[in-house]
Amino acid sequence: MSAERAATAVAGTNIALVKYWGKRDAALNLPAAGSLSLTLDALGTRTSVRFSAALAADRLTLNGAPADARATTRVTTFLDRVRARAKIATRADVVTENTVPTASGLASSASGFAALALAATSAAGLPATPAELSELARLGSGSAARSIFGGFVEMARGARADGRDAVATPLDSDWRDVRLVVAVTSDAQKSLGSTEAMERTARTSPYYEAWIASVAADLADARAAVAARDLARLGEVAERSALRMHASALAAAPGILYWNPATVAAIHAVRALRAEGVPAHFTIDAGPHVKVLTTAASARTVADALLRTSGVLRTVVASPGEGAHLVEAA
Ligand code: PMV
Repeated sequence: MSAERAATAVAGTNIALVKYWGKRDAALNLPAAGSLSLTLDALGTRTSVRFSAALAADRLTLNGAPADARATTRVTTFLDRVRARAKIATRADVVTENTVPTASGLASSASGFAALALAATSAAGLPATPAELSELARLGSGSAARSIFGGFVEMARGARADGRDAVATPLDSDWRDVRLVVAVTSDAQKSLGSTEAMERTARTSPYYEAWIASVAADLADARAAVAARDLARLGEVAERSALRMHASALAAAPGILYWNPATVAAIHAVRALRAEGVPAHFTIDAGPHVKVLTTAASARTVADALLRTSGVLRTVVASPGEGAHLVEAA
């Protein structure tokens, strides 16, 4: 390899409609069950990786500022896997920007590790199929495996101990008439990271096994709903999956509660909209924000209703987005 090689990639974040909550292998980030998600457009990450013989250590710049040691170590651990596969030892300069609208309350690890997987393999000259990129992104963050692909995506649990089959596959990237309205309900950092929360749920929640056992049926239902482009059916699964995931976490010891009063108010607002005939179904991740699946035609109505809900700070309307791809460096 020449002294310097660089690549830039962008990836959209994704929101799970059938949730991933639990690992069968923590070191390899292997999920205990499959999941199904929608990749979003405007909400994502742009990452440049430049391998250079002149660098003594990896460097990470996050949204214009040097990243802290924890984030840098996580990126170095990830790059070490890429270097091992590419048989190189060169350190890298990584510059990453989140294109998530200011404080949208959306997690960026999914788009972040998807963009990093693509930019790093490309800069290292390592050929990688989409499935291999998905596997690599998963090692950074479980949900990142899904952001390699656009639109609706299914993540497989896989059966192998090495995780080669725990990868995502695209289901439908042409179903464009869907929107996800994000209701931001807090500007505080999330209290408990997903890895620790999943681990505690698995270790202490009497509902964990029941939760995991319920996922296969939800996946089958969601897959069929995507195939039929049936938003109401997909939305029903999404609500059920989110509530079951949170129920398993609530029952951990100590109990994991991500919701605030505005989260609950938004849930009621969504159900009230539905009672009036507006297509709207919620999902909630490891934080207090509420994400509402709806149609393009109803997105404004849903966003307005959420903005009128007590405690909702702002809303972001997102459309289906593309999978991770390379772009020219800025
Ligand atoms: O990718 P992680 O390890 O941050 O886990 C994501 C967990 C949830 O967002 C709550 C659910 C999901 O499937 O994305």
